[in-house]
Amino acid sequence: MSETNPITEEAVEAAAEEALASLATATNLAEFKALRAAHTGEGSALSRLNAQLRNVPSDQKAASGKLVGQARGRVNQAFAAREESLRVEEEVRKLAAESVDVTAAPAHWRAGARHPLSTMQDAISDIFVGMGWEVADGPELENEWFNFDALNFAPDHPARAMQDTFFVEPVESHLLLRTHTSPVQLRALLARELPVYVVAPGRVFRTDELDATHTPVFSQVEGIAIDRGLTMAHLRGTLEHLARQLFGDEAKIRLRPNFFPFTEPSAEMDVWQPGAKGGARWVEWGGCGMVNPNVLRAAGIDPEEYQGFAFGMGIERTLQFRNALNDMRDMVEGDIRFNTQFGTVV
Ligand code: PHE
Repeated sequence: MSETNPITEEAVEAAAEEALASLATATNLAEFKALRAAHTGEGSALSRLNAQLRNVPSDQKAASGKLVGQARGRVNQAFAAREESLRVEEEVRKLAAESVDVTAAPAHWRAGARHPLSTMQDAISDIFVGMGWEVADGPELENEWFNFDALNFAPDHPARAMQDTFFVEPVESHLLLRTHTSPVQLRALLARELPVYVVAPGRVFRTDELDATHTPVFSQVEGIAIDRGLTMAHLRGTLEHLARQLFGDEAKIRLRPNFFPFTEPSAEMDVWQPGAKGGARWVEWGGCGMVNPNVLRAAGIDPEEYQGFAFGMGIERTLQFRNALNDMRDMVEGDIRFNTQFGTVV
């Protein structure tokens, strides 16, 4: 039986030509590597022919080996040359792409914008500074004593349930996220000599779901004035001044009886907003009252000698009705477009 040689010159030539022709289709190194694997790697036509060498009759082995070897050498060389030229091309492209035009006009970086809540908070503080008041702050993680007890909330007083509190574990720590800025009333009185005129803006926390009119984290501004002979008339005059500054000269306020453990008498305060979209109207704005003598005593002050008033209002709410904003969620979602529409670019 005459043995046949599975390695023909045509087959070797065809495999080599196919590999070389494929090179032209590679336009970058990634494509090139895929082609090299397909045409020179294991399983390629040339390596399959190479594997056939063991079936070649021994007298033809040398010639066939040379044939396949030369073809593989030629192909490998062509691939190596193409790889080098693709590498150079890629480098040139990269350098061009990364080149810097030092004569180009600089890109305009947006500096960002202050949040309207911050600017509103500052605007309110400024109005009080203009009346000679001080700006103070207090901790957001507060002692239960400052948030409730010292403000005359009895331990089992139902008023404690008025505010949905985030208590902090362990319970024995008696720490909570302050539910209002009123604890700063006490802190301001303890830290200062009388008389005291202090306004304290800041963040407060309640277990509310986030919706169009509530957010679990919001801000209030607290005011407290303690001096000799202060009356409800001073409270009224102060709040009316604030309202005019914020809502225009026609703004007025109205007090309706209410209850807070830390003020007596207490009132709910409404503001007459002359410039409201859809017509002038009364809007509920905040709470206020004459500081309860028990609060003054907790701060070591003789209520016979000193009296005063306090008030507190929500800043988100103020911003909302002042600017006819439908949805409070816009204030907390952090979309810069919300900020910039207030023109508060720094
Ligand atoms: N702390 C009260 C609240 O959060 C508001 C308030 C402040 C009322 C000061 C009276 C005096 O509802």
